[in-house]
Amino acid sequence: MADGAISEGLGLDRMLVLEVARLTEATAIAAARLRGRGNEMAADQAAIETMHRELARVDFKGEVVVGEGEQDEATQLFVGEVLGAGKDTSVDIAVDPLEGTTICAKAMPNALSVLAISERGGLLRVPEMYMDKIAVGPGYPQGIVDLDKSPAENLKALADAKNVPITRITACVLDRPRHADLIKSVRETGAAIMLIPDGDIAGIIWTTAPRDTCIDIYMGTGGAPEGVLAAAALHCIGGQMQGRLQATNAEQRRRAQSMGFKDLTRKLSLQEMAFGDIIFSATGVTAGALLDGVRFFDKGAETETLVMRSRSGTVRRIRTTVREAAGRHVD
Ligand code: FBP
Repeated sequence: MADGAISEGLGLDRMLVLEVARLTEATAIAAARLRGRGNEMAADQAAIETMHRELARVDFKGEVVVGEGEQDEATQLFVGEVLGAGKDTSVDIAVDPLEGTTICAKAMPNALSVLAISERGGLLRVPEMYMDKIAVGPGYPQGIVDLDKSPAENLKALADAKNVPITRITACVLDRPRHADLIKSVRETGAAIMLIPDGDIAGIIWTTAPRDTCIDIYMGTGGAPEGVLAAAALHCIGGQMQGRLQATNAEQRRRAQSMGFKDLTRKLSLQEMAFGDIIFSATGVTAGALLDGVRFFDKGAETETLVMRSRSGTVRRIRTTVREAAGRHVD
């Protein structure tokens, strides 16, 4: 054993799967206590504080590479913050303690707590800006969809690969005015669209289980940090994804350049965003297509978590009952 997180020749210690799941469970419970209260900031802050406190205690040490923003924007989980009780910094951390703050505040479906860890350098550091994304689940020929192709071309290629008419394809798209042209182009092909109010990490993961979710493809522009977390999930579970950073002003362009993104027109492959040994965990805060939300009961709570490990390809669905011990609150 090289240190608390890395096993010699075996990448991330597989025991970390449970540790990572425990972190998103605790965070989801804290956020769920504030769901439906109409207070996005309070729910987000509760999630950030819980994730921060629990990460500080884990038996490994990691550096946040995707988090709550730069050090001057965030006091906890900022990019570059080193957390954990381990000896050496041996992992990178990508975290979104509450993905879907608005949907949590409104008690609407699909809010998640999300965390991925990798060996050093396995998760791409991206600036806080938008990213164009396209993603499909596993089982299709490599390169079947491409950000440089039109929506019609991508949908036709997917329908042909599935051997169904385009009218049987459903795309997931964030419901935003910026997607008006995309939505029009998709509808013109005859494909269906599931418009989601928020939460494109879930939207991308849905493409990996079209029989359960009815989603075949994710298209559109969302947060770049969420793009890396979604790539981490697809790296573990299988699927294809491309991203392209979208700077909306000069400051964002400068920031991207300073982080090494010299050519912003360049597509980022799934392998660039997430590679090597990765453990990804998502726990439902509110119930959704992917996961149940937190259920509270007398002196306890139940959570559902999807936790995956790229090295083995194992995907676990864990239902956990957390009981209040004497003097210990479930959050
Ligand atoms: P938050 O949890 O930070 O509110 O993000 C939710 C989300 O919908 C993401 O899933 C998505 O990538 C991003 O916001 C889209 O950004 P915008 O709301 O600016 O369109």
